[in-house]
Amino acid sequence: MKKESSIVKKTKNLSKNIGSIIPESIFYAALEATANGVVITNKKGEIEWVNGAFTELTGYTFLEAIGKNPKILKSWEQSDDVYKNLWSTISAGKVWYGEIVNKRKDGKLYIEEMTISPVVEDEGKVTHFIAIKQDITSRRLAEEKLRESEERLNFAMNTSHTGVWDLNLLDHTAFRSLEHDRIFGYPKLLPEWTYEMFLDHVLQEDREEVSSRFNYAINNKSDWSFECRIRRVDGEIRWIWATGRHHINKAGALQSMLGIVQDITEQKKAEQETLKTEFIADATHELRTPLAIIRGNIDLLARSGLSSSGQNEKINAINGEIEHLTELLSDLTLLASKGNEAYGKINLEKINLNLFLEKIVKRCEILASKKNISINFKKSPDFSFCGDKVYLEKLFLNIIKNAITYGREKGKVTISSILENRFFHIDVADNGIGIKQEEITFIFDRFYRTKEAKSNKHKGSGLGLSISKWVSEAHGGEIKVLESSPKGTTFRISLPLGEI
Ligand SMILES: Nc1ncnc2c1ncn2[C@@H]1O[C@H](COP(=O)(O)OP(=O)(O)O)[C@@H](O)[C@H]1O
Ligand SMILES: [Mg+2]
Repeated sequence: MKKESSIVKKTKNLSKNIGSIIPESIFYAALEATANGVVITNKKGEIEWVNGAFTELTGYTFLEAIGKNPKILKSWEQSDDVYKNLWSTISAGKVWYGEIVNKRKDGKLYIEEMTISPVVEDEGKVTHFIAIKQDITSRRLAEEKLRESEERLNFAMNTSHTGVWDLNLLDHTAFRSLEHDRIFGYPKLLPEWTYEMFLDHVLQEDREEVSSRFNYAINNKSDWSFECRIRRVDGEIRWIWATGRHHINKAGALQSMLGIVQDITEQKKAEQETLKTEFIADATHELRTPLAIIRGNIDLLARSGLSSSGQNEKINAINGEIEHLTELLSDLTLLASKGNEAYGKINLEKINLNLFLEKIVKRCEILASKKNISINFKKSPDFSFCGDKVYLEKLFLNIIKNAITYGREKGKVTISSILENRFFHIDVADNGIGIKQEEITFIFDRFYRTKEAKSNKHKGSGLGLSISKWVSEAHGGEIKVLESSPKGTTFRISLPLGEI
């Protein structure tokens, strides 16, 4: 039988020395039994013998394969260079080893790991080739999946700015990701990192807490988790959060701790801001009642007719202070409520601009008349927009009152508006003291007042503009200083018309 004669010949060639000891049939059986596909071709590349595993791998039966060229498996997925390299290697009598994408009889592609050994006779002539094949598709797929999931993990770690560390508990050295070292202010991965280097970065005040938590975790084989402040290599102080989990070896001993670290400075700032806001809200709430009582008693005292004219003057001064405190408390309450779901909500309603501004101007007239300031309100073409009446009233009162407060005696305040697409701008211009260019960026900060304003007899809080800025932004608009010079200032409030 052809099948038998070819394997007999091969086994003879392959086992020159042991052929006499082990019967040929054993070699035949061994090749047939192997889990790898085996193909034997003659020197022209025609298949002379295949084993059962080859049929399982490729779908071609023994008879279908015999006489064919192994090209029947070619998938065209593979570049010709691979085949050229393969042929030149084995024709030179050398072993070729590599991976090839092949095609099964049913058309399905698979990845094959293959070794081709030429069979060389005494005179050095190649007579046959033996190919050993193994399907490694699932191995490659698993590797690809692993690589993909590693990539995903890296992406998540990098985008969330999470550093990874693996601390050897025996010598305290650690492997880290680049992001880890970046968190501590190093632009590149340091050649070495130790637990002690980490502790050096932790602020003195937090060090004891961090290391005692570490020792506790080691002694109890528990997780290590903490927040602390660190001084980066550039001197900047930042907040970090880190957590680590033990890796225990088969003998039950602690070997290493694997963990992550994140820079949480921004979160901390936001948390502190919330605490501050809550404190302001609580404090202003508590101050309101005693202030109302003082106010009521002063009123009673003034009306009782018991006080002398000198005392009346003092009562008026106290009333002025109470007025200022009341306003301050109301501003603080408003500022503390911004961003607070329950209180800082914008309630939109339809507002007619001319009617709305007219009312506000009226409310400012007494204040203006005290300084002989004339308010020139230039009406716009009639239109309505969508906004929160209470908050916008606060905004425009602030700006117009500022124009009067920081305006000159016998001065002028002009209010005009421009409609532009879906936006409108309201300009409030005065011919007052002006704001220095370098101070313009600060006037919208809470409690900021210019030197000139502080020397003004008007008692301000420096909160008006920061409230105005918040109100305009909460409406999707903005407020800015359009121009300012020692001759006067123009503020511009821009607001969207909104859905009416
Ligand atoms: N129209 C203006 N002209 C000059 N300075 C102004 C004007 N409006 C505001 N400012 C300056 O901006 C500061 C902040 O304003 P604001 O927040 O309303 O606080 P204040 O309670 O002091 O009025 C004022 O103290 C003043 O220095
Ligand atoms: Mg003000």
